[in-house]
Amino acid sequence: MGIDLAVEIGNLKLKTPVLVASGTFGYEDDYVELIKENRLGALVTKTITLKPCQGNSPPRVIETPSGMLNSIGLQNEGVEIFLEKKLPLLSQLQIPIIVSIAGERIEDYGLLAKRLDKVKEISALEINISCPNIESEAECLFAQDFYLTYGVVKAVRESTDKTIIAKLSPNVTDIVSIAQAAFDAGAEALSLVNTFFGMAIDIEKRKSKLGSIYGGLSGPAIKPIALYMVYKVAQAVKLPLIGMGGVVSSQDALEFFMAGATCVAIGTGNFINPRIAREVVKGIEEYLKKNKLTSIKELIGRLGN
Ligand SMILES: Cc1cc2nc3c(=O)[nH]c(=O)nc-3n(C[C@H](O)[C@H](O)[C@H](O)COP(=O)(O)O)c2cc1C
Repeated sequence: MGIDLAVEIGNLKLKTPVLVASGTFGYEDDYVELIKENRLGALVTKTITLKPCQGNSPPRVIETPSGMLNSIGLQNEGVEIFLEKKLPLLSQLQIPIIVSIAGERIEDYGLLAKRLDKVKEISALEINISCPNIESEAECLFAQDFYLTYGVVKAVRESTDKTIIAKLSPNVTDIVSIAQAAFDAGAEALSLVNTFFGMAIDIEKRKSKLGSIYGGLSGPAIKPIALYMVYKVAQAVKLPLIGMGGVVSSQDALEFFMAGATCVAIGTGNFINPRIAREVVKGIEEYLKKNKLTSIKELIGRLGN
């Protein structure tokens, strides 16, 4: 009996429901084979911005109990270098390429979307309105405010025909209202969740362990909260969800599917084992076989209680 792992996100057809999360996987020459071996449904790029961005001062990554803190700060070479130098390699991968975009102003998101709209190698845009490590014109993350979320997603919607995915922040009181704003503005899918604000202190030096004082917490430590947020949004908003936050095994991924996610993305897990996605895909197949199911779709949003 064949196992069908295919899912759809907007117009995208993914062969497997496992992605790598933005900013957590390389795509230089030596990663091509690894990406193929990993049986990814799609690849999400590191977030790009209109202009090159240096990122924050070091140290920018530290390990914490069951997780990690990062304050990379959207270091990237900017959209033009991305298109010239990175995209040719990505287009050899024969999987959908989802480009993550961010800006300091609502207008930047629209300009980026317009610039990428006619680039045929790009299948979809993930709108990162939830990075805890950048400055913006808003006094909070765009994804912490209903109106700003609406404004950014709308600006992107009006600038591209590509599938758009809004990536939301867990650093909010009511994620459902933000998800609803993204839906109302035209998002076709949601990525849930980005990292949680966090920090760690070196008590001998009496200094923060991160150069920029605080950063974003990810990994297994955040999984129960991420899962809860996916569940809450799945109950209220009828959009495909890309669930993430601490997925390091097929068991974790299966929990996200049952909570209502259509796909999962692996972030911190790639730092532990860059072949982790392959193991997660294999484990999902084994679970489906063992439970006499033929399609992953039979599990999405299926909780017995
Ligand atoms: C080192 C690092 C860099 C990241 N960079 C980005 C980024 O550029 N854009 C983005 O949307 N999310 C970024 N993230 C967040 C991840 O994509 C993901 O949402 C988050 O880490 C939760 O998943 P995880 O627990 O599996 O890591 C980054 C995370 C880490 C650990």
